[in-house]
Amino acid sequence: MDRINIIDFGSQYTQLIARKVREQKVYCQIIPCNAGTGKILEGNPSGLILSGGPSSLFDKNAPTIDAEIFSAGIPILGICYGMQLTALLLGGKVQRSREREYGHAILKLARNDSAGWLFSGMPDATQVWMSHGDSVLKAPPGFETIASTDNCRIAAMADKKRRIYGLQFHPEVAHTLNGHKMLSGFLFKVCGCKGDWTMDSIIEQSVQSIQEQAGKAKVVLGLSGGVDSSVAAVLISRAVGNQLHCIFVDNGLLRMNERQEVEKVFKKQFRIPLMTVDASKRFYSKLKNVQDPEKKRKIIGKEFIEVFAGAARKIGKVEFLAQGTIYPDVIESVSFKGPSATIKSHHNVGGLPKNMRSLKLIEPLRELFKDEVRQVGLSLGLPREMVMRHPFPGPGLAVRVLGEVSKERCDILRAADRIFIEEIRNAGWYDRISQALAVLLPVRAVGVMGDERTYQNVLALRAVNTTDFMTAEWTRLPDDLLARVSNRIVNEVKDINRVVYDISTKPPATIEWE
Ligand code: XMP
Repeated sequence: MDRINIIDFGSQYTQLIARKVREQKVYCQIIPCNAGTGKILEGNPSGLILSGGPSSLFDKNAPTIDAEIFSAGIPILGICYGMQLTALLLGGKVQRSREREYGHAILKLARNDSAGWLFSGMPDATQVWMSHGDSVLKAPPGFETIASTDNCRIAAMADKKRRIYGLQFHPEVAHTLNGHKMLSGFLFKVCGCKGDWTMDSIIEQSVQSIQEQAGKAKVVLGLSGGVDSSVAAVLISRAVGNQLHCIFVDNGLLRMNERQEVEKVFKKQFRIPLMTVDASKRFYSKLKNVQDPEKKRKIIGKEFIEVFAGAARKIGKVEFLAQGTIYPDVIESVSFKGPSATIKSHHNVGGLPKNMRSLKLIEPLRELFKDEVRQVGLSLGLPREMVMRHPFPGPGLAVRVLGEVSKERCDILRAADRIFIEEIRNAGWYDRISQALAVLLPVRAVGVMGDERTYQNVLALRAVNTTDFMTAEWTRLPDDLLARVSNRIVNEVKDINRVVYDISTKPPATIEWE
């Protein structure tokens, strides 16, 4: 299978480059620029892409790579910083600039022979997206300028013989109108990739490598009902059948019917050995009198591990622990920038107990982006509703019942949340929203019902759209949909007399309220 290595110089767009490459059915990996030449050339890649980055080549400690990689005979595409570095390392000149060029520009192709296949099928002029400070003043020996913009004379350069290319703009962003064509020119015509990294081939390869890894040993997996652990479970089960044992912990903080749905899909449809542990009482009692969100998270994480480990002991001798880790989680921890400050401490694996630490890990989704995980899930026959589900936090409703958590308050929230999600689905809005949730507030409000004054709970609804969950915009839901939801909730859910809609963006607000 072909493979492209993307060398990361810390650009905010590195992940996007990877996604654009994979969309063309070519497998790629992101490798931090400081990982060393061995890593950079790992896996015998068909081509390298050098990403952009926030640094200037004139900075002290500006990131670089060994110039040797340019003599490895592998096609290379340098983007933005990657192009400047290419120019510098191969004997060209880069000029420092105090001002950044940021935004749209019109790229005019030189139409000389040097561009080769990179620009095949492109118009003579096309819109591109620029975001750079420094620029290449003189292309290195052997290179020719293959395109310019008004502000940037060497907007693209090429050494067709050595198959080394540089683009000052960003072909990976949507603002570069023919970016897709340029990448596909590089991948297929320059690097000779075949584009055979399909869902079927991903599944086939995963199944094979899980079988090789696990042999005849037992594998245990904590199923949460979320997309990642569900897809991992079905994939592993396809590879090792009944050697896989899933454990589902009902912590009392789940949404309505969640446990039943998980049982239906995994036990009935896929016939995967599944142990469900009802630990809700234990969780409610540990959460009694606890108000602080971080404390709640810690308690839930700790209890989960204990309950999970207790259940796992009943399975007998287990050698492998399976997890639904996906590629963005991996990149976060290996990125050139180091683990990002935004990484969350909340994932429910607050450290395994001693007897489980010796387990070896199986993480079949480690190389996939979320949308790829979803595709795999659909191909494996998981119900669409489960695969396309909005994210749900590990601590569940505990961080949506603000203040102290109790079964009664979780029940109120469950009923309201179900109505909200049901109405959104019925109105055809569910797939247009990144995440929708209901929050039970720790205040009471005065209301009137019939002739009587009420003094009851306030419920907040939140719906957001986001691509990365780091920033988010509140969703402009139609008034009539909101009206229907509000009306149903106050009528059907006991103890709620007021519904509000959250219109805060992230930042400064977060998606969850706690
Ligand atoms: P925030 O609230 O930080 O949420 O804007 C961003 C995304 O993370 C989810 N989230 C969590 N997920 N455990 C999780 O597994 C948590 O403690 C947690 N807190 C927030 C949130 O639902 C959103 O998708």
